[in-house]
Amino acid sequence: MRFAIIAPPVPTKEWKQNFEKIAPHIPLVIGLDTKYPEEVECAMVWCQPKGSLTAFKNLKLIFSMGAGVDHVLKDDTIPGHIPICRVVDPQMAFSMTNYILMALLNHHRSWYEFQASQNKKHWSQFEFTERPVKVGVLGIGYLGMHAANEIHHLGFPVFGYSNSPKKTDFPSYAGNEFIEFIKQINVLVCSVPYTPKTHGLLNYELFEKLKEPTYLINVSRGNVQVEKDIVKALDKGLLSGAFLDVFEKEPLPKTSPLWDHPKVKITPHVASLTYPKESTRQVLNCFSRLEKGLSLPNQVDRTKMY
Ligand code: GLV
Repeated sequence: MRFAIIAPPVPTKEWKQNFEKIAPHIPLVIGLDTKYPEEVECAMVWCQPKGSLTAFKNLKLIFSMGAGVDHVLKDDTIPGHIPICRVVDPQMAFSMTNYILMALLNHHRSWYEFQASQNKKHWSQFEFTERPVKVGVLGIGYLGMHAANEIHHLGFPVFGYSNSPKKTDFPSYAGNEFIEFIKQINVLVCSVPYTPKTHGLLNYELFEKLKEPTYLINVSRGNVQVEKDIVKALDKGLLSGAFLDVFEKEPLPKTSPLWDHPKVKITPHVASLTYPKESTRQVLNCFSRLEKGLSLPNQVDRTKMY
């Protein structure tokens, strides 16, 4: 039995080191170049090339090296009977929440304005306020819920939205209550998975429905947003700013107007990175349960895409 890591766009050195430390008895293949493809029973993947997993004729488990699984499922050649599991890691939630807090608090405490004052050696006491924020978390799955709870515990008004109703300590909306949800807020944190339903969700039509100029924080997937609509909404004042970690095309092309927009902050898809040690622990646990015929933790529903 072998495990394989198929993740062409990411560095795999740390993954390999962790795997070999935790499971020295299991042969590991990095990439597709193996003489023994029929021995690979578990593939850990991040953006695997389309069709590449079909070489592994005895594959039993696919494990997403990230929280999202759109990168796995866009490959429609994966046989339907192979279970797909994904990493669900409290450390990733900690990291994601801190990223969202960084974006939120910089906006709330007028950090960029103070920074501009500092650049001019200007003492701007009493010039900027604590902006009143009402935070909407769109997508309260594992990561979104963690962030929403922490923001709520800090004392900010929080509103959640998810496909199906969830029990929350703060007001939350579901299904056809979307408009009601966005009417409550002036900060929109997007943490939905990418699915055909969320494709292009953050568009001008939605921005026009916002009751107040809203600060957008997107930590989900680039294709959930329509970037030209974000620029238009910022210029029209429907959005008061945007803090974006993900983009329609990554790396963000140098020609994108987002780079130079005064109201846009950009990070290069780093809101929450996966931790190889915990992911390796989880994939090994998952595979061992599979072999024993037990239920699999964090198994992906292929129709829901999460
Ligand atoms: C990162 O984007 C992930 O899905 O973990």
